[in-house]
Amino acid sequence: MYKYPQGFLFGVATAAAQIEGGAYDDGRGESIWDAFARQEGKIRGGDTPSVACDSYHRFDEDLANLKALGVNSYRLSIAWPRVLPQGTGQLNQKGLDYYKGVFDKLLQANIAPNVTLYHWDLPQALEEKGGWLNRDCIKWFSEYADAMFHAFGGIVPYWVTINEPIAVYVGYGLGFFAPGYSDKLKGNQARHNVLTAHGAAVDVFRASGAQGKIGIVIDIWKRHPATASPEDAALVLDEDEDNWKFYCDRVFAGRYSDYLLAKLGREGTLMEIGPDDMRLGAAPLDFYGMNIYNRVVVSANKEAARAAGGNPLASPAVYEHTITDAVHLVKSLYNLRIPIYITENGFYGRADDEMRKMKDGVVQDDDRIAYLTTMLANVEQLLQEGIDLRGYYLWSLMDNFEWSAGYSLCLGLLHTDFATLARSWKKSAYWYRDYIRSAR
Ligand code: FCB
Repeated sequence: MYKYPQGFLFGVATAAAQIEGGAYDDGRGESIWDAFARQEGKIRGGDTPSVACDSYHRFDEDLANLKALGVNSYRLSIAWPRVLPQGTGQLNQKGLDYYKGVFDKLLQANIAPNVTLYHWDLPQALEEKGGWLNRDCIKWFSEYADAMFHAFGGIVPYWVTINEPIAVYVGYGLGFFAPGYSDKLKGNQARHNVLTAHGAAVDVFRASGAQGKIGIVIDIWKRHPATASPEDAALVLDEDEDNWKFYCDRVFAGRYSDYLLAKLGREGTLMEIGPDDMRLGAAPLDFYGMNIYNRVVVSANKEAARAAGGNPLASPAVYEHTITDAVHLVKSLYNLRIPIYITENGFYGRADDEMRKMKDGVVQDDDRIAYLTTMLANVEQLLQEGIDLRGYYLWSLMDNFEWSAGYSLCLGLLHTDFATLARSWKKSAYWYRDYIRSAR
């Protein structure tokens, strides 16, 4: 068994809106996902995040599971509307107390908290003022970030500003996520603004004197062509530019590509760019957090795309070099010299399939174990090549609220029974525990 470098972080990841519940407890304000869930037909099965895994009341149980898994880091997020119910202004002391308790208990257990400020749950009060479309979002987010750095900057070792800025595009440009607009110009403006807000928060972090490290999480879904046709090559280029490169170019290279600017100009969807925005978005970072699940096979010819694996979320066809390729790609494209963490990687199961795999109370998720075996072999390979990879977080600790898919998709190491909220270890949880043990 490969022995990992000393200090390598093995973790699991979650997000507040997906696990906490307690949506109306102790003064928490509403988030855009609470409001989105009320709109007819937006979330599968009419599911809502208001109870989720009820971690707001069950953190001690989660902590016991984290200890039993043997992880030395836990990636989680702060719910902005829990600490600032109106998004700005008055802090909610009970919300702060909750996170203080969580961070203290993790630290006592030698589990380093890796804390994301924005994992998609904008306060609804701010959405009502235009949300990420309103340039004031830069000020709102900085104020929130500053409050968190002052409250927890002495104890939290790792901070992430934004998790997957693309989610903002999905929410304003495509309509599949909260707040549910499908207008490409809005989408572009919102994703541009969120990256400016990210950079402003990094500046605030440097000025705050906080102890830890700060980075951003961007997901990479590399496009691959299904055929050798020129149409497929053009589609790969187009989708790469309009997806992960939008964010990476801005953050790691301080620009948008000529291809992208020309395309948005042609479409009439070019956003407004303020004079200082590009500098801010490229604020120097301490690390890059990569979320990575699979590649995407695309083709101008729909049949060819389907035959080659189609939608990666629905497909068991996992590309065996997913992580190695993506890490090599971003390192070479941007000459990236900061440490990299894999901040999410995990396996999608359908809730009904997972239930069928349950034997004597244990989900026999051999498919998840096979996926993880491949992905961790990628991680080992990168380390052996000398790549500065510092940690791996598996998504997720337990089955949770999977955004627009509600509770119909499961990515947990632990099965959550949403009727009783009982958590139970899947076969993969035992497997991950054993993997971590033997890697040290
Ligand atoms: C990522 C999200 C995370 C979770 C996984 C499955 O895109 O960051 O919250 O939904 O996908």
